[in-house]
Amino acid sequence: MDNSSVHVSVLSEEVLDGLDLRPGGIYVDGTVGMGGHAEAMLKACPDLKMVVGVDWDDGALEIASRRLAGWHEKTLLVKSNFVNIPEVLLANEIDGVDGILLDVGLSSYQLERSGRGFSFNTDEPLDMRMDRFGSVMASDLVNNMPQEGLAELIRSYGEERWAKRIARRIVEQRGKAPILTSGELARLVARAIPRKFHSRRIHPATRTFQALRIAVNRELDNLKQALSVLPGCLNEGGRFCVISFHSLEDRLVKFAFRDDPGLEPLTKRPITAGDQEVASNPRARSAKLRVARKKRKNQHSLS
Ligand SMILES: C[S@@+](CC[C@H](N)C(=O)[O-])C[C@H]1O[C@@H](n2cnc3c(N)ncnc32)[C@H](O)[C@@H]1O
Repeated sequence: MDNSSVHVSVLSEEVLDGLDLRPGGIYVDGTVGMGGHAEAMLKACPDLKMVVGVDWDDGALEIASRRLAGWHEKTLLVKSNFVNIPEVLLANEIDGVDGILLDVGLSSYQLERSGRGFSFNTDEPLDMRMDRFGSVMASDLVNNMPQEGLAELIRSYGEERWAKRIARRIVEQRGKAPILTSGELARLVARAIPRKFHSRRIHPATRTFQALRIAVNRELDNLKQALSVLPGCLNEGGRFCVISFHSLEDRLVKFAFRDDPGLEPLTKRPITAGDQEVASNPRARSAKLRVARKKRKNQHSLS
């Protein structure tokens, strides 16, 4: 099966506009995933010089390399955390780039096919590492964290009002036997939340799973660090596009773009998907795109 067919890239047209692709330009897709946005860039601007595709999930990179095989002379795929993009560029003797895209979050491949317990609809080992060499798995947190810390993690990263009850149930359950699969955890969380408060729109374990995934992959720390170091890789006038999927991330992007004296935010409000895109791709429902431009040196000193 062609795995690239299962992930539909969000806000593709808007990303292409935001990146303002130019012939001869070098662009970085820092979350190349299944290569959808990278492919769209190469198709939209066949004369661009290169797309550097970075991802820390080697399974995703394999899919991207198959998808982008037709452009192998113009693509460089690297397994790395996106916070290390400056080092990746240095190692490849690239002094500056004309655009950077981050589409943070999970790909459909990771959710549905990686077998790493990202989904509450499956019974898989409770792993949740996007980078399979990461040192902490979700099962480590669920089975070892003190109850209070676990409640705080689920509350803050999942914005889950039932966090205390969920943490208490987890601790009770793991006292009998360790919690090892996504299915076990999903059922336990569903039982911890009173039935009358189950949402009709989302599975009761959605927020808990989001919280664990964010913690395992240190998603907010990585995004924060990337927002501070990646503008340094942009050429003057270069574009920085970030797609995020929940308010905690969007807030980081909004303030980083506003507070970086070298950046000019081009989007006052985040760009979101239209009804048609959401109807054909439910992942797009919560996607928010913000775009900033690297200021020119003289513009920088005037502002
Ligand atoms: C939503 S998917 C990207 C999909 C891609 N834009 C496409 O169109 O196919 C997000 C990707 O970002 C990767 N990712 C998340 N955090 C990362 C990080 N800190 N460093 C590198 N890759 C990361 C994930 O492994 C995943 O493959």
